[in-house]
Amino acid sequence: MEKKWWQEAVGYEIYCKSFCDSDGDGIGDLRGVTSKLPILKELGVTCIWFAPLYASPQADNGYDVADYEAIHPDYGTMEDFKELLDLAHSMGMRVIMDMVLNHSSDEHRWFQESRKSKDNPYRDYYIWRPAKADGSEPNNWGSYFGEGNGSAWQWDEVAGEYYLHQYGIKMPDLNWECKALREEIYGMLNRWLDFGIDGFRLDVITRLKKMPGLPDSLKKPIPPMDRNGFVVDRNMCTNVEGIHPILRELNERVFCREGCFTMGEGAGVTPFNAAEYILPERRELDSIYHFQLASRKGPRLTAEQFRTVQKNWAKVGESGGTYIQYLSNHDSQRQVSQHGSDLQWRTRSARLLGTLIHTTPGIPFIYQGEEIGMVNVRFDSIEDYNCCYTVGPYHAMLESGMDPATALAEVARTSRDNARTPYQWNAEKNAGFTTGKPWLKVNPRYEQINLEADLAAEDSVFRYYQSLTALRREHPAIVEGSLTFLSEDDPDVICYTRSCEKETLLVVANLSEREREWEIPHPIRGRCRCLLCNMEKKIGLTGEKLSLAPWECAVFAVE
Ligand code: GLC
Repeated sequence: MEKKWWQEAVGYEIYCKSFCDSDGDGIGDLRGVTSKLPILKELGVTCIWFAPLYASPQADNGYDVADYEAIHPDYGTMEDFKELLDLAHSMGMRVIMDMVLNHSSDEHRWFQESRKSKDNPYRDYYIWRPAKADGSEPNNWGSYFGEGNGSAWQWDEVAGEYYLHQYGIKMPDLNWECKALREEIYGMLNRWLDFGIDGFRLDVITRLKKMPGLPDSLKKPIPPMDRNGFVVDRNMCTNVEGIHPILRELNERVFCREGCFTMGEGAGVTPFNAAEYILPERRELDSIYHFQLASRKGPRLTAEQFRTVQKNWAKVGESGGTYIQYLSNHDSQRQVSQHGSDLQWRTRSARLLGTLIHTTPGIPFIYQGEEIGMVNVRFDSIEDYNCCYTVGPYHAMLESGMDPATALAEVARTSRDNARTPYQWNAEKNAGFTTGKPWLKVNPRYEQINLEADLAAEDSVFRYYQSLTALRREHPAIVEGSLTFLSEDDPDVICYTRSCEKETLLVVANLSEREREWEIPHPIRGRCRCLLCNMEKKIGLTGEKLSLAPWECAVFAVE
């Protein structure tokens, strides 16, 4: 099959609000990004994913879109974006836009029209239902952000009905059953492709289809999020039968265009149902990212979990599906804090985690700051937090009787703000992010952890990531090789080969703080040449055993 550009890509997610502020208003912007394109190029990035840049009241930092065809003024203008896009293209980098198709902002013109009357042409763009006879919500669905009383329905005085919102109250769900809405969306997406972008990251794309008839959920409530009789039940709106025809139509009308790459956010997608979304012959999505490794609340990654997840997904890959490799993004914790060691072994474990993502099958996506080993943050007051998944649940916990300190501790560890604090460029004021007051506080560890310091350090994470992206360019086994795990029952050491016709590579990684010895399997003893190591380079694997320091990893060519 003909190779597509994205199969060899190195992705990088930019959360513009926190990346680089060029005008001192405390908010990152497009000119800021443009000024930093050279460093991304140096890193080896070939595809940038922008978290939403559209005009928005910012209830969820842009995932609440008020106008899909305008740039949010804090970020700049359409001209700034065009300039950035052209420059990125001239430097060999593609650009994909986040596209939020499950919901819009309540400040979107469509919603403002929709609420006006039952016969408004936009009425059907959203999901409206009358109150029950006693005035209560149409069903017992709860919302993910848990705002208000916890319901996924909000009463609208103007409309005289409730509307559905799976997320925030200001984020009404769009009605994909409505043909006029679908047509409107296709037009808008095509105009973006005409503008010159290279594809889309599709926000919560598995949630467009709702359970027919919108029945009550039968799930047992789990407080504190499930409260007042409302339950957050993913199954009511995720992977519901009927999602595939929606995606096929999107593909037929938009995504099939030459060079357009789509990457779906795969809530509820597992190796067992992924094929339906991503096999090329299905003509739905080009790729998907899943949550089996990088779950915000999940425990630290274990060697066993890593092997199981990667093996299952590799089968999807063998049958022709493409998926994304990542350990963090704007919705997660910082990966070195969640899965590595963010104090003693920070740089070493950051390099190891990067190695796992860049040497397994799929498209690696780096999240801004990961390449310098940025870490989680801990604010002392809920006032300093911004994320809806933090503030909403915090109040739900207080409502359920928890004391504020415990509630804060509970939400802080898994807050998405861990990943959203401003990028740390240098040790100057506000980490060089802004000359103004940053919209979200800078991580206090910026004096030690910043790009400038990292580049000057012997154990630079950035330089190591550069080697990883170079490895991908130079070794075909990284892109197309099959995946085989060795030493499968080892509790700490992850070891696998990637093999294609031309070569075999071997990756060994000690996912623990213990020193470990790893027995070199007979067939490869004496045949391994070290290509990359997160400590001193290993020479050759000649003896019977390889000793590995805490968090040590290495990549070898098997010759
Ligand atoms: C996705 C986004 C997340 C957002 C949510 C609602 O999960 O990645 O940031 O809050 O969708 O749009």
